[in-house]
Amino acid sequence: MNEKKEPILRAENISISFGGLKALDNVSLEIYPGEIFAIIGPNGAGKTTMLNVINGFYKHDEGRVIFEGKKRPRSMKPNEIAAQGIARTFQNLALFTGMSTLGNIMVGRTMMMHCRRAQAPSLRRTHGRDEP
Ligand SMILES: Nc1ncnc2c1ncn2[C@@H]1O[C@H](COP(=O)(O)OP(=O)(O)OP(=O)(O)O)[C@@H](O)[C@H]1O
Ligand SMILES: [Mg+2]
Repeated sequence: MNEKKEPILRAENISISFGGLKALDNVSLEIYPGEIFAIIGPNGAGKTTMLNVINGFYKHDEGRVIFEGKKRPRSMKPNEIAAQGIARTFQNLALFTGMSTLGNIMVGRTMMMHCRRAQAPSLRRTHGRDEP
């Protein structure tokens, strides 16, 4: 890792409470381009909560998230954050019921494919069937 590079993602002094429980208390991290970064800790330490703050599922009470050098507005929605390139997988399976295995997998690729209805015929050609 080149220490002179700017972090691609910086979370500064993040705090969030659920009722009386302070799940994150002044947590900071920096992730550099190309770095594989892990958050470790015991059950209930706040790992998933931190990821949910980074991807916008949770709104932090204090602190700030800076992505590619720009402070992210707290109002930014998870889908807008995903469009910037911050995506998540789920700790527990979060499948769409009633959708095929292939359909579930393809949902995770829609951001990359910029798939629109107009492109559906090419998907049918690729996969040999109409996917939801
Ligand atoms: N939506 C929520 N509402 C209330 N409390 C929550 C919520 N999300 C997380 N918490 C609480 O915040 C604390 C941190 O939970 P979190 O799931 O982030 O821990 P974790 O480090 O991911 O744990 P694990 O290793 O079990 O996955 C826990 O006490 C949890 O009960
Ligand atoms: Mg977790």
